[in-house]
Amino acid sequence: MSMYSLAAIAGLAIFAGSVSAADSPGLGSSLSQDELAAIDFVVLPNGDGLPDGGGTAATGAIVYQQNCLACHGEKGTGGANDTLAGGQGSLAGESPLKTIGSFWPYATTVFDYVRRAMPIQSPGVLSNDELYAVTAYLLYINEVIGENDEINAETLPGVRMPNRDNFVWDYSQAE
Ligand code: HEC
Repeated sequence: MSMYSLAAIAGLAIFAGSVSAADSPGLGSSLSQDELAAIDFVVLPNGDGLPDGGGTAATGAIVYQQNCLACHGEKGTGGANDTLAGGQGSLAGESPLKTIGSFWPYATTVFDYVRRAMPIQSPGVLSNDELYAVTAYLLYINEVIGENDEINAETLPGVRMPNRDNFVWDYSQAE
């Protein structure tokens, strides 16, 4: 190795050690608040993270018809994709049918899941009001809430799912 390349490596090491944000190589770019909000969102079972807005099953029925019915069928049954309603009490029987109403332990997860994943070909297109409304509709067709019950960040965490108590915490609290 020549003296020249040794000096070059030493110079590089000194340079690398003194890099700060100001004189970084300029790779990538900072996210705006809007861009961050679009990917950094999660709703916890207790409702933490739920946004402003609200809706009822009555308005959610329209959101459902326009965005979901083609794949999930009339009132969540008989579609080409997952059945979203019915099956309550079937899980321990001969033909278990897992749906929101028969299986899901938390109502808040319906909002979180639909917001991040549905409609499957274009998640993210629904407004928060539309998401609350279609969540209300899914709970309504599962007979968990009434047609005109307002669903929002305050009320959704209080909706108790029929299968809630069949989920058990498998770890001792003392450990
Ligand atoms: C183009 C077809 C399509 C459309 C439109 C669509 N979905 Fe889905 N949906 C699917 C598929 C496929 C799955 C299964 C995804 C998987 O298992 O990963 C699914 C799964 C779901 C589930 C999970 C069911 C379960 O119990 O596991 C829910 C809830 C749901 N969709 C709600 C909706 C709602 C609400 C809309 C409208 C806003 C919608 N979907 C629009 C295809 C669709």
